[in-house]
Amino acid sequence: MGRHPGNPVRVSSQSPLPARPCKGRPDFDECAAWSGDAGARRTGTGLWATRVRIVMAAALLCGLVVLSGCEQPQSVQWGYRGTSMIHLDKPGRLESTGNLHAIPPPEPRDPPDPTIPLAGEVNQNVQVLNDLDALEFARLMQAISVWVAPEQGCVYCHNTENLASDEKYTKLVSRSMLKMTRQINEYWKTHVAGTGVTCWTCHRGQPVPSDIWFTDPGPKTASATLLGRGGQNTAGIQTIANAALPYDPLTPFLAADNAIAVQGTTALPTGNRKSIKQTEWTYALMMYISNSLGVNCTYCHQTRSMGVWEQSTPQRVTAWHGIRMVRELNNAFLLPLQPLYPGERLGAKGDAPKVGCSTCHKGVFKPLYGVSMLGDYPELARVMTERRPRMEQPTPEAPAAAEGAGAPGPNP
Ligand code: HEC
Ligand code: HEC
Ligand code: HEC
Ligand code: HEC
Repeated sequence: MGRHPGNPVRVSSQSPLPARPCKGRPDFDECAAWSGDAGARRTGTGLWATRVRIVMAAALLCGLVVLSGCEQPQSVQWGYRGTSMIHLDKPGRLESTGNLHAIPPPEPRDPPDPTIPLAGEVNQNVQVLNDLDALEFARLMQAISVWVAPEQGCVYCHNTENLASDEKYTKLVSRSMLKMTRQINEYWKTHVAGTGVTCWTCHRGQPVPSDIWFTDPGPKTASATLLGRGGQNTAGIQTIANAALPYDPLTPFLAADNAIAVQGTTALPTGNRKSIKQTEWTYALMMYISNSLGVNCTYCHQTRSMGVWEQSTPQRVTAWHGIRMVRELNNAFLLPLQPLYPGERLGAKGDAPKVGCSTCHKGVFKPLYGVSMLGDYPELARVMTERRPRMEQPTPEAPAAAEGAGAPGPNP
């Protein structure tokens, strides 16, 4: 029985990675292809046939070794005994993503000096970061370049002849991104805790972050037009882990705020009008969420009754806040940027790029394994002084999970 990196038994949020069983070996697919090749040569006779048999035996053995080392899922008991809350994961799944979850070294920092003027005083057009001193400001510009546009540098957002100019859309978008990052860190602690996010959490050295999404206009098939499938059950869509479920659950649930709950709360039918079709939309969203975090349904649910909060894990409450956070980010920050973007950045329906769970998480239970970068960049955690008015933020009412629910039971 192995340990999942998300297992809260580990106190450290920096979960060490599982061992690397496959390093230096051909991976499973290569090995399978190789044994298939050996099988194809089985036409020989005599000594040759024996050789082929040896090769095949070796291939089979190799397949077995690779299968046992690589493909066998690890399981972790994730809920109380007898609740079947088992977490399954493939060892090596996270390592195959290489450096994706690493963090660039922080920019060097001078000790704080109150005599240094504020960035807003020495520059002409600072609208967001005017609570930073000029040195902190320059340091952050350097860091932003590394996080968002390491190849292009300052010119990605600036006309370097005139740094105050707002002629590039990327600078205008960045201003909004700065506000959004502070908004997440200051007002969504219910989701991001003290860990928080920086530009790196989403961008990882790319101007356009991975795992962004657009409203999906749907496949252009004759049957879709004739039968009007209403977005239902199209297999092979990666967003929902290739399940045959509605193909775009993100627009109704992560941009709009359609109700996700579908289950009746009483034993006998007492007026719950939710249909199987609606349930499929909920399941499609849940496939997306599980896939984004690299977890099973049992990471959040006791599957005998998905809807019951008292039997859900604390992670489900974090996810509940996450859904609300993502809706706000899309509606308050990302969708309004639509007029700024050049056409090639927009979706098939002309909509602006949006964030989902995987834009930050990228297949991991906590982005960057829960390592915080805010200690090195406290100016992104919040507005630094009281000189500027705070943004208003109503806190949505949250359901509470049972105390201790989801805590892993003793290992049997
Ligand atoms: C990803 C976009 C981005 C990159 C890359 C970037 N900047 Fe900026 N820069 C901004 C934004 C946004 C502002 C305005 C901040 C505000 O309004 O609070 C700004 C403002 C400035 C200003 C203030 C200009 C004025 O007079 O108002 C200076 C100076 C500056 N940046 C220097 C740099 C340097 C030097 C680099 C390269 C090391 C750099 N920036 C890289 C987005 C960027
Ligand atoms: C929650 C995720 C998230 C965070 C955090 C974030 N961004 Fe973005 N950013 C996006 C998305 C989504 C887009 C839209 C992608 C596109 O432009 O196609 C974007 C686009 C941009 C672009 C435009 C790139 C282009 O070529 O179109 C810039 C520049 C940018 N972000 C800078 C920043 C800066 C600077 C920060 C930190 C202050 C930051 N972002 C933080 C999600 C994020
Ligand atoms: C990361 C946590 C998380 C994971 C993983 C997850 N869910 Fe959910 N699930 C939630 C949250 C949060 C809600 C409630 C959403 C809301 O009402 O806003 C929910 C709601 C549901 C509901 C509706 C419950 C009701 O009251 O009607 C069903 C059904 C469901 N999930 C099934 C699944 C299935 C099946 C999987 C695995 C494919 C899964 N979930 C994986 C967090 C999760
Ligand atoms: C803006 C970036 C961002 C987005 C978008 C985001 N998350 Fe998170 N999420 C985080 C951070 C950061 C943490 C780590 C918080 C901590 O250290 O406790 C986290 C933690 C979690 C956890 C707790 C994991 C654990 O093991 O304790 C769950 C569950 C989760 N997120 C689900 C979601 C879901 C579901 C969505 C999409 C609806 C989502 N997140 C979208 C940044 C994000």
